[in-house]
Amino acid sequence: MATRRQVLGAATALSAGAVTGVRTAAADAPPSPRERTRLSRGWRFHMGHAQDPARDFGFGALQIAFAKATDPLLDPAALHYDDSQWSEVSVPHDWGVELPFVAPIGLDILGKTDPRAAHGYKPLGREFPDTSVGWYRLVMDLPQTDLGRRLSLEFDGAFRDCVVFVNGYLLAENHSGYAPFRVDLTDVANYGGRNVILLRVDASQGEGWFYEGAGVYRPVWLVKTDPLHVPQWGAVVRPTLTEGLADLAIGTEVANESDKDAPCEVVSTILDADGRAVGEARSQVSAPAWGQAEVACHVALPKPKLWSIEAPYLYRLATEIFVGGKLVDRYETPFGLRTIRFDPDQGFFLNGQPVKLKGTCNHQDHAGVGVAMPDRLHAFRIERLKAMGSNAYRTTHNPPSPALLDACDQLGMLVMDETRRMSTAPEALDELERLVRRDRNRPSVILWSIGNEEPQQGTERGARVAQTMKRLVNRLDGTRPVTEAMDGGWGDGVTRVLDVVGFNYRTSKIDDFHARFPKIPVLGSETASTVTTRGVYVHDEVRQFSAAYDKEAPWWATTAEGWWPYVDARPYIAGGFVWTGFDYRGEPTPFHRWPSVASYFGLMDSCGFPKDEYYYYKAWWNPAPQAHLLPHWTWPGREGQPIEVWCYANVERVELFLNGQSQGAQDVVKDKHLVWNVPYAPGAIEARGFVGGKLVVKERRETAGPATRIALKADRARLKADGDDLVVVGIEIQDADGRPVPTAGDLVSLQISGPGQLIGMGNGDPTSHEPDKTSHRKAFNGLCMGLVQTLPGSAGRISITASAPGLTGAALLVTAS
Ligand code: GAL
Repeated sequence: MATRRQVLGAATALSAGAVTGVRTAAADAPPSPRERTRLSRGWRFHMGHAQDPARDFGFGALQIAFAKATDPLLDPAALHYDDSQWSEVSVPHDWGVELPFVAPIGLDILGKTDPRAAHGYKPLGREFPDTSVGWYRLVMDLPQTDLGRRLSLEFDGAFRDCVVFVNGYLLAENHSGYAPFRVDLTDVANYGGRNVILLRVDASQGEGWFYEGAGVYRPVWLVKTDPLHVPQWGAVVRPTLTEGLADLAIGTEVANESDKDAPCEVVSTILDADGRAVGEARSQVSAPAWGQAEVACHVALPKPKLWSIEAPYLYRLATEIFVGGKLVDRYETPFGLRTIRFDPDQGFFLNGQPVKLKGTCNHQDHAGVGVAMPDRLHAFRIERLKAMGSNAYRTTHNPPSPALLDACDQLGMLVMDETRRMSTAPEALDELERLVRRDRNRPSVILWSIGNEEPQQGTERGARVAQTMKRLVNRLDGTRPVTEAMDGGWGDGVTRVLDVVGFNYRTSKIDDFHARFPKIPVLGSETASTVTTRGVYVHDEVRQFSAAYDKEAPWWATTAEGWWPYVDARPYIAGGFVWTGFDYRGEPTPFHRWPSVASYFGLMDSCGFPKDEYYYYKAWWNPAPQAHLLPHWTWPGREGQPIEVWCYANVERVELFLNGQSQGAQDVVKDKHLVWNVPYAPGAIEARGFVGGKLVVKERRETAGPATRIALKADRARLKADGDDLVVVGIEIQDADGRPVPTAGDLVSLQISGPGQLIGMGNGDPTSHEPDKTSHRKAFNGLCMGLVQTLPGSAGRISITASAPGLTGAALLVTAS
């Protein structure tokens, strides 16, 4: 049993210039004895079997998972095992995305929903024992000099049940698809020799009603520390901001995994964004043998720089442990300084200023890679959302990847951070604890969400469960409110426990709730669920495309204009989170059946190409002048017929022109769109937007000729040659004059040369059954996309070439350095 000791440290505030001579974590500090290495490459993968031990490497044969601590039945656990028949993979990895689609089993009694639809028609689950278990094997060297250090593996997440063997020892079984977990391998490691990490990942059981993937889909880290060290997530910074000063209350855990008590000095140094030490506290403590000490100290930081959506300034806390003057550990914790407040009358405040939450909900899933999203892809998606004017993100319905939260911290995106299970079962509470401990220093995180549309939400029992969860959250953090996304039961059950009440849909009921409970802050935890298909303007029941006008929504949901004007007009509502920012696999609403395999809710498709809905929100969430027009203007055969032309504009007045002829001007009404009915004639429509009588913005849609060529666009030109960084390559089919061809479906091939590799393609078509792991993909309504990743340690020019039968190809260069 660990004993805990508290000491109070002495605090020193350093002015930015006063770092000379201070033995701290600044740039000239000695390297940390701690190592944290990402285990991305060198993995081998093989399918196992969920029922038959003979096809599952003997796992569980003769009803034995293990009889002795080391399991001789399991051949791949042995060093001499020949895994040359296993495929080489890198982590993150989602084998689900590589599986073929499986045909439907039929519709439910209402003739609407196919049970296989929810997970996107992939052969995962108990019905598919052949494809639901995967094995990962990594052989790694550990030097003799590691003997005496503490070694662990940190998993950011695996889907789902993950059994971890190291050198034949069964070290861990983790049963959450989303919570991070850690495995200590110190005792069983081979020092000065080779080590076998073997993982059995079983995706037979899912946790959600959407595609969840399969495998080690988030990074894995090897961590080496001194026996005396800061344990995982063992430092916390709680700032109190007053005029011109930040008081940082710092809590540090010091773990001592050795036989002797360890008197030591803990130095907590605050580093600014340039790495300069700007504050420091020193504490003396003795960490008991095989126990843990806790250090509490304060650092006063004059003239603190605040973290905000516009300027997401990050500090770092460098925690150093010294024994007899020798550095034994150095642990970094990024954090930011900001205040948050939810007010029942005035909504949300960031740094004392009212901020309406303009949010989206999202699952971790992207075209080309499934749930195995490289870090850069998380950042790419946050950038796309920010460009729309979004400032908030709800991590539905589970703990997100740390890489996503890093992007939110670094780019300025507020987060409603959600756990998966609303339960007080010890394992569920442990998952919640891991979430809060991991994320409690992040300035982006402003809310802890303990559930979503839980059947117990309106009950006394639900209130008791919520109370226990909230107690835990407050013990671990206590600086952020607890919320839950509710779709009923408001006023009862958990309502009395929550700090902020979430409304999933049913926006029009919020006024009534506010009248009854005027002291409880509220927000739209899930809103809209409008269903649209990118580039489609006529609903097609046979091909299963919904139209991209803001018109179609399932019975529980609304259009964009069905919720945002309501929320925007009421300062007391903190804001809302649109379901969803991006399309995702599974839950193929509105059709709920084959051939749809993905959702239609996104403001962007699964590749990140904006749909027209994106521009509704952009008009009202981003002040940049806009006059977005829909639909496209290529309608051969519809000459003379009226076409409904919409404009999402945020200027004062818009005049529409068809081939230079005015179709009339209209005043823009806040939070609404404009409509003209225009008889189709080939040529161009053009919207001209005015403010104060002055033309400020012009947008055109031109009739395209036949598809002639390909155009490529990279989201970035310079990449890191680290094996993770990537470029998102947008591929557009154009006519001879460079106009986008809005209906083109050409089959595009990508070739890569230089130090990069194509890791997947997509086109945003929710009915497409083409593979993601491929070098050719059909354009969908004129667009498709490729993801090109760098190779570790290989700098140079990556050349990306696109070709398609009958079209002029295109090429672009990006640089990896
Ligand atoms: C909500 C649910 C989401 C998603 C959405 C679709 O009820 O929380 O996960 O299913 O509906 O509209």
